[in-house]
Amino acid sequence: MISTKLILTQKKPEIFSGDLLVCCFEQDKKDKVKEGWAPVEKELKKAISLGDFKGSEGDSLLLYPPVSGKQKLSAKRLLLIGIGKQDGDKLSAARERCRCCGGTIAAKAAELKAEKLFLCIPEVVGLKEEEVLECLVEGILLGDYRFLKYKKPDKKDPAFLTIKEIQVRASGSGKDLRQAMLQGKHAALAGRKARDMANEPGNGWTPTSFAEYAQTLSKKHKMQCTVLDKQDMKKLKMGGILGVNQGSAEPPKMVILEYHASEKAQTILLVGKGLTFDSGGVSLKPSAGMQDMKYDMCGGAAVLSMMQVVGAEKPKVNVVAIIPSTDNMSGSSALKPGDIVKHYGGTTSEIINTDAEGRLILADALAYGIEKYQPACVVDLATLTGAVILGLGHHRTGLLGNNQDLINRLLTAGERSGEPLWQLPLDKEYVEQIKSDVADIKNTGGRPAGTITAAAYLQKFVGDTPWAHMDIAGTAWDFTQKSYIPKGPSGTGVRTLVELVRSWKKF
Ligand code: BES
Ligand code: MN
Ligand code: ZN
Repeated sequence: MISTKLILTQKKPEIFSGDLLVCCFEQDKKDKVKEGWAPVEKELKKAISLGDFKGSEGDSLLLYPPVSGKQKLSAKRLLLIGIGKQDGDKLSAARERCRCCGGTIAAKAAELKAEKLFLCIPEVVGLKEEEVLECLVEGILLGDYRFLKYKKPDKKDPAFLTIKEIQVRASGSGKDLRQAMLQGKHAALAGRKARDMANEPGNGWTPTSFAEYAQTLSKKHKMQCTVLDKQDMKKLKMGGILGVNQGSAEPPKMVILEYHASEKAQTILLVGKGLTFDSGGVSLKPSAGMQDMKYDMCGGAAVLSMMQVVGAEKPKVNVVAIIPSTDNMSGSSALKPGDIVKHYGGTTSEIINTDAEGRLILADALAYGIEKYQPACVVDLATLTGAVILGLGHHRTGLLGNNQDLINRLLTAGERSGEPLWQLPLDKEYVEQIKSDVADIKNTGGRPAGTITAAAYLQKFVGDTPWAHMDIAGTAWDFTQKSYIPKGPSGTGVRTLVELVRSWKKF
């Protein structure tokens, strides 16, 4: 997908002669028309008095502006979009309304085959102009997303068109606006990259693909990339990922990408489950819906994609991303129920169900990453349990961990970025369910509290390091559909992690 050009301009909207002039309005704020919007004011008041446009969320109205006279506009079309109205005083809700408004703009632009847009930054109660722009841009670029790589190109199909250019009307000097616009762009492009990875089929996105993209980012942004292959894993005694990979012809990779801010900066370790296809292994999954298990690498996709934002924005905190990656197949040498594997660091696991493979590969990555990088905290993201879908559905990501400060930061980051999380308990009593008679621990704890026992399993590998686990099995795809979140993979987690890093304060 070609990237959209974003331009801040002092030009008045009247002069713009492209495809689509876009003006957004909060509901019931019809009198607050800003300087430079005079031509729009007239149209808007008319539409409102006729009841054709209210400014409510998702509301839109397409007008063909006068081509001559005093109120003349040069744009081919004028599009009015509603932002809805304030509900409570939560800033995060206002930010989300701006994103949704952006998504609606993208959808309308696609419908109209509009490639050149001009955007006036609306006034939104409670938000600074910069924030409005950041979220609008985020929403537009996340909304203007389609995965067409495997489809025959069709010039007549508007799906193949993307927005080429957006001019944004800036009133002041624009330095803060420019930064906000870039932040919105970085986050959105990372979200789109994560969706691209996830949309790839199991034979299109392999552990090697994770390694290659990490190397691309490493070169582009001068970050250090290390890829551990099967031999390295054997030397390091990473029995979890090796065990899961045993039944597969596809080699595993442990992909590590390091961003170094400074010697005295703290280090955040991010770990993402990069299971490129989960058949369940010998404990085979039912075939209905199994194709969705190509998405089982969404944690890894989020973690690696967010590193492109880190590379571009260079925050003041060190960030290390680790993606343990393999598929889970049932070849003749596959792991079997009853087998015992020894993880990096020596902890042993009894395999009860080979379909509980995510925790096995995460265990090695967590133990290794914590020992090697001594991080101030670690966050892992994984499509880990079907149980989280039963509990939280497709809207909130499950959040668990051993440190309330870290959990609170993630709750806040998720809320600000429109990726809501919900904390689940992790009392030590749950550990009872994963005790094994023959090994240190077993890899399933039965049906009750499946999401919690999975986290309890991971906790065995993080020691005292502040740690949080995000179970994105319900949100990585089939996320609550919104104008800026299409069907299929959502890219969830990317913006929460970006927000966590951007707002980092010493732990
Ligand atoms: N990748 C799945 C979890 C999953 C299920 C994600 C459905 C998205 C939708 C994971 O590897 C898995 O199979 N988990 C098992 C664990 C069980 C065997 C303890 C599950 O949740 O059923
Ligand atoms: Mn599984
Ligand atoms: Zn899985």
